[in-house]
Amino acid sequence: MSDFRLTGKVALVTGSQRGIGLGIVKELASAGAQVLLTGIVTDEGEKAAKTLQGQGLNVRFRHMDTTDEGQVSATMQDLVSEFGSFDIAVANAAIYPNTSIAEISAQEWDDVMRVNLRGAFTLAKCAFTHFKRQQSGRVIFLSSITGPRVSSPGYAHYATTKAGVLGFMRTAALEWAPWNITLNAVEPGNILTEGVLEHQPQSFVEAQRAAVPLRRLGTPQDIANAVRFLASDEAGYITGQTLVIDGGQTLPEMSTAILPGA
Ligand SMILES: NC(=O)c1ccc[n+]([C@@H]2O[C@H](COP(=O)([O-])OP(=O)(O)OC[C@H]3O[C@@H](n4cnc5c(N)ncnc54)[C@H](O)[C@@H]3O)[C@@H](O)[C@H]2O)c1
Repeated sequence: MSDFRLTGKVALVTGSQRGIGLGIVKELASAGAQVLLTGIVTDEGEKAAKTLQGQGLNVRFRHMDTTDEGQVSATMQDLVSEFGSFDIAVANAAIYPNTSIAEISAQEWDDVMRVNLRGAFTLAKCAFTHFKRQQSGRVIFLSSITGPRVSSPGYAHYATTKAGVLGFMRTAALEWAPWNITLNAVEPGNILTEGVLEHQPQSFVEAQRAAVPLRRLGTPQDIANAVRFLASDEAGYITGQTLVIDGGQTLPEMSTAILPGA
């Protein structure tokens, strides 16, 4: 056992200047990895990287749109030129507009597919070039309980992408296993992030909290812990799998379950 250390590993996390992505960057760097924080909001990304550098962590920011294959490919090429390896790719970037199905335009549908699905595919495909040469590599996808297990009104397109990415992951896990490349996913429940607070009223957030058996919303750290494990040497025999991290939210058979003795 190495306490899930990532010393000497080089990692890249998409859309990671805030929220869960930033939590993952911090955790991977705390575990000893050199981490590239990437995203499309440059000022926020640079500020976040600077804060983590101030904490002694090996983190840098680079502008990268995960849907742009040219940018993703060039970023990875530069990482490998500089550090000599590239080991961990985390597909975190996503958008999640809340729109009822009748109101979703073709453009909005395509935008969600482009960022959430094509972005994850592009990241994995570009990483494969390097991982194949190295005969090792880890890809970790941010899926969700929304889509693979449950859903909420307004999230038809988002749910489609979060279920779809698991189909891609399972196929790639099979195709790339001969090169010792593993692909896994986490399925967060309701995690309190800036993005959620931006999109949802406080009353919705409180309703979410009440629906969680562990009686609290998740934190970016809860998700980052699992990503660190999946990126570690200890998880080397796990591929094509998902880990639900939802405080028990998807467990109840009935919304009004009564606990014996409660
Ligand atoms: N917060 C939750 O409750 C929750 C639950 C389940 C799954 N997730 C998943 O976790 C991940 C992070 O979610 P979050 O809550 O931190 O959201 P967030 O909105 O804070 O983070 C998403 C990031 O993606 C970035 N992004 C959007 N388009 C991009 C593009 N084309 N290229 C690069 N970056 C782009 C955004 O700028 C943002 O920084 C997402 O994949 C989300 O679906 C979140």
